[in-house]
Amino acid sequence: MPYAKIIGSGGYLPPRVVSNDELAADLATRQIETSDAWITERTGIRQRHIADPGVTSSQLAVKAAQQALEDAGISAEELDLIIVATSTPDFIFPSTACLVQAQLGNKGAAAFDVQAVCSGFVYALTTADSFIRAGRARHALVIGAEVFSSILDWNDRGTCVLFGDGAGAVVLSASEEPGILEAELNADGSLANILHVAGSVVDGQVTGDPFLRMDGQAVFKQAVTALAASAQSVCDKAGVSLEDIDWMVPHQANVRIINFLGRKLKLSDDKVIVTVDQHANTSAASVPLALDAARRDGRIRQGDLVLMQGVGGGFTWGSVLARM
Ligand code: UT7
Repeated sequence: MPYAKIIGSGGYLPPRVVSNDELAADLATRQIETSDAWITERTGIRQRHIADPGVTSSQLAVKAAQQALEDAGISAEELDLIIVATSTPDFIFPSTACLVQAQLGNKGAAAFDVQAVCSGFVYALTTADSFIRAGRARHALVIGAEVFSSILDWNDRGTCVLFGDGAGAVVLSASEEPGILEAELNADGSLANILHVAGSVVDGQVTGDPFLRMDGQAVFKQAVTALAASAQSVCDKAGVSLEDIDWMVPHQANVRIINFLGRKLKLSDDKVIVTVDQHANTSAASVPLALDAARRDGRIRQGDLVLMQGVGGGFTWGSVLARM
């Protein structure tokens, strides 16, 4: 049975950078009080990239995908599987993956979206790994892409300061060499209401609430507990110990969650990739963006053992352990 190996990665962030100070000044015009000090202290976020009005997830995804394909040295025509993880799709349908496929110039590959919010990338990566290991695909493109700014209530300081837009992508290929070693996905739908966008389109009208709502403290506690257990479990299944991990690439929501997790798992800070300060929480894009940043700056190298983790709405979480 072949392994699925990550052979390329890419990332794209919309050019407009909004610092905490700029955001605080903007919120102040609507009598909403926040500050760089609060945001930095509670979350570690210093800035986020925000897409211009009208820019869609597929547009960000295509740019990240092109970079990943170039890095992998394969052409779009060679892909036989395209999965986009997103909670901010361009349309109800067709899937964002089909839109990306058309823009990349591929015809015939299976293309579909995965909806697991901030766990979306690890869900999509695990799905692609399963296709490749079963012999149902040879070259897969897995993308996390979001325009979360479009579902934020910019009058809710408890959420609007936390998120940003972007896309990250990887190319996976069938390989005899070890690649993805183990993966584990979980969900607990009874916790749906701690992080949700409970709106829908019915008869041409948005019904319910179209904005992201979150019980931040509940999500925080759940995230740390779930991710610690998932990390241990995936390592046990793969027969490796947590000390063997060269790099952890956790979901980038809050540096305090990342630090708690690192301490719980006894991983030193210099083994943990952090981009939340630069990107804020880009939901499904956060893990592939962080992975790509660390591959490009030379920290994550060929042969390294990498643990990727996602957690978010659903409630969903999961881990992928990969030999690079
Ligand atoms: O992908 C998964 C998605 N989400 C997450 O992972 C988020 C997980 N949760 C968190 O990161 C944290 O819970 C938050 C960053 C959301 C909040 O941090 P916290 O330390 O849990 O703060 P809190 O909700 O307990 O709020 C503390 C205070 C409150 O004021 P009072 O009631 O103490 O007077 C809030 O109203 O901070 C206030 N507050 C703010 N103040 C300034 C909330 N948001 C802001 C803000 N600026 N932006």
